[in-house]
Amino acid sequence: MTPGDWPEVAEIYREGIEDGEATFETRVPSWHDFDAGKLPEMRLVAVDDDGRVLGWAAAAPVSAREAYRGVVEHSVYVLRAARARGVGRLLLSAFIDAAEAAGVWTIQASVFPENAASLRLHEAAGFRIVGRRERIARAGAGRHTGSWRDTVLIERRSARNGIR
Ligand SMILES: CC(C)(COP(=O)(O)OP(=O)(O)OC[C@H]1O[C@@H](n2cnc3c(N)ncnc32)[C@H](O)[C@@H]1OP(=O)(O)O)[C@@H](O)C(=O)NCCC(=O)NCCS
Repeated sequence: MTPGDWPEVAEIYREGIEDGEATFETRVPSWHDFDAGKLPEMRLVAVDDDGRVLGWAAAAPVSAREAYRGVVEHSVYVLRAARARGVGRLLLSAFIDAAEAAGVWTIQASVFPENAASLRLHEAAGFRIVGRRERIARAGAGRHTGSWRDTVLIERRSARNGIR
């Protein structure tokens, strides 16, 4: 992913927010904020033969503490029109390779239990369910109108990095 990809990445992010099963976020961040929060070593886009961005993956550290330097929380989003064609699988596989190369030992994410596509995608890539967090946060936070929602905490441990 380069800064030039951002308009397409942002639009895919916007679609994911609009669909309502991807994230508690309600607005796409600015490039400045996205760039400041996501690790540069593992930001990827999937492109078609014409160079059109079909999806993206990126991750943020879960903590600034040294002990957690190999633990990241990732996101993967595919263009609505390109879903269920294997793009997510390719993107997640490439993302895992990039994370492994960067020394990451745990990739984690919180997924809404209703997000069947994401749960299936991640299960197939070796993620396990750590647990279900009931009514962990409120959708539409700040507007005080949203419902409390559960999330499923999933993680993938590296066979190469970390504990042996
Ligand atoms: C989740 C998402 C990234 C999956 O990407 P994708 O390109 O559609 O997924 P793929 O085509 O690679 O399919 C991956 C697996 O999920 C399954 N799958 C895809 N869409 C599905 C659906 N709607 N319901 C159930 N399973 C589904 C596929 O069958 C495949 O499993 P299989 O290999 O066992 O057949 C995509 O749906 C998306 O961008 N959703 C909106 C954003 C989002 O929710 N991101 C995840 C936040 S945690």
